[in-house]
Amino acid sequence: MVPPVSFESNRSSSFSDRRLNILANHFVTLNNSIDSNIFPSPTASSDSVFAHLLRAPEDPILGVTVAYNKDPSPVKLNLGVGAYRTEEGKPLVLNVVRRVEQQLVNEASRNKEYLPIVGVADFNKLSARLIFGADSPAIQENRVTTVQCLSGTGSLRVGGEFLARHYHQRTIYIPQPTWGNHPKIFTLAGLSVKTYRYYAPRTKGLDFQGLLEDLGSAPSGSVVLLHACAHNPTGVDPTPEQWEHIRQLIRSKALLPFFDSAYQGFASGSLDTDAQPVRTFVADGGELLVAQSYAKNMGLYGERVGALSIVCKSADVASRVESQVKLVVRPMYSNPPIHGASIVAAILRDRNLYNEWTIELKAMADRIINMRQKLFDALRSRGTPGDWSHIIKQIGMFTFTGLNAEQVSFMTKEYHIYMTFDGRISMAGLSSKTVPHLADAIHAAVTRAV
Ligand code: LMR
Repeated sequence: MVPPVSFESNRSSSFSDRRLNILANHFVTLNNSIDSNIFPSPTASSDSVFAHLLRAPEDPILGVTVAYNKDPSPVKLNLGVGAYRTEEGKPLVLNVVRRVEQQLVNEASRNKEYLPIVGVADFNKLSARLIFGADSPAIQENRVTTVQCLSGTGSLRVGGEFLARHYHQRTIYIPQPTWGNHPKIFTLAGLSVKTYRYYAPRTKGLDFQGLLEDLGSAPSGSVVLLHACAHNPTGVDPTPEQWEHIRQLIRSKALLPFFDSAYQGFASGSLDTDAQPVRTFVADGGELLVAQSYAKNMGLYGERVGALSIVCKSADVASRVESQVKLVVRPMYSNPPIHGASIVAAILRDRNLYNEWTIELKAMADRIINMRQKLFDALRSRGTPGDWSHIIKQIGMFTFTGLNAEQVSFMTKEYHIYMTFDGRISMAGLSSKTVPHLADAIHAAVTRAV
């Protein structure tokens, strides 16, 4: 008998010790950023108490922007961080967001009081409806608890800490590869991180067999991180049939799905289509977690707006779960910020604003899809060796080009094109004007003699 997935067990006794151990290991082995003679005392009174610190490396993704900003070249191009740019290469604030912000400023009754620990109530309700669907039985039966968190990262971290405290299995399986922040978030949350095969470099597609084998041999009850759509960094998603296989396997082994939904609407241009994998897991009545971000789909990057939803078996469990999530949030950041969530709630609440948003969202998704075609055509017209069809097959913000670290550094040095070392490029940072420059750089990188 496979034990049922349950949030009711509480094994918090050794949580702090275990987390401290994990933290210590993490900093020493993963970051390689502190002296291994841990915390030596200063030798002279003039020495800083922090003199033993080594300089930490820049973040592999956000550090790309740091390097880009330092480059004086007029042709430089930042394809590192996943942030949408217009055809003119500028950041975009959606019109609907600007309008709502104006309304909020003019509302005399608005104040800046603390929010409750769980955030804006309406935002939470509407976020759950956005990801699960307005007619979701889980919502109607009050089996979902949703808590406003600090974008996707904060939602994953709160969810991870909640699981480390209250869930009977403390291992989370994450895809290989995955977003570089995932292993750090979950390790520091107190979970033990393992990987499952996801990407096949040879086909530049899904390693479906490897995925099934690895999840099939994961201990029963393990948590499984799934990208809801537009997998970061590969741009490779399972087909609906493959999702169904994955769902059956996960449920048959009582694994606990934890979805990271950072790109709803960005993959296909449709909010409903991109939420479909999550919705099929809710429809089977099982439990799951979802971290939602509004960074990309509403362009609210710096507002840090997101939500953690936990779908439970009953309303009673859901309300107890929420009471415990509040205990995770309060000592971490007390309660979330008000502005971004108020924008989202206003848009999701009003039919006209919502429609306006979906039109702007679709335009962003379409521009990215168009960039894929343009880059593919540009490489073909240059006769660049290799099969580049993965550029148009992959979806979402990123293309996992298959370029290696050495080719990436060549492109940065010679062409001032900035991207992560795994060969990921943000298609959202590309424009019709910059495609030829990128295609020239890729062509030179793959054809040059080394
Ligand atoms: C990315 O992968 O580029 C984005 O999700 C931004 C980030 O925080 O890493």
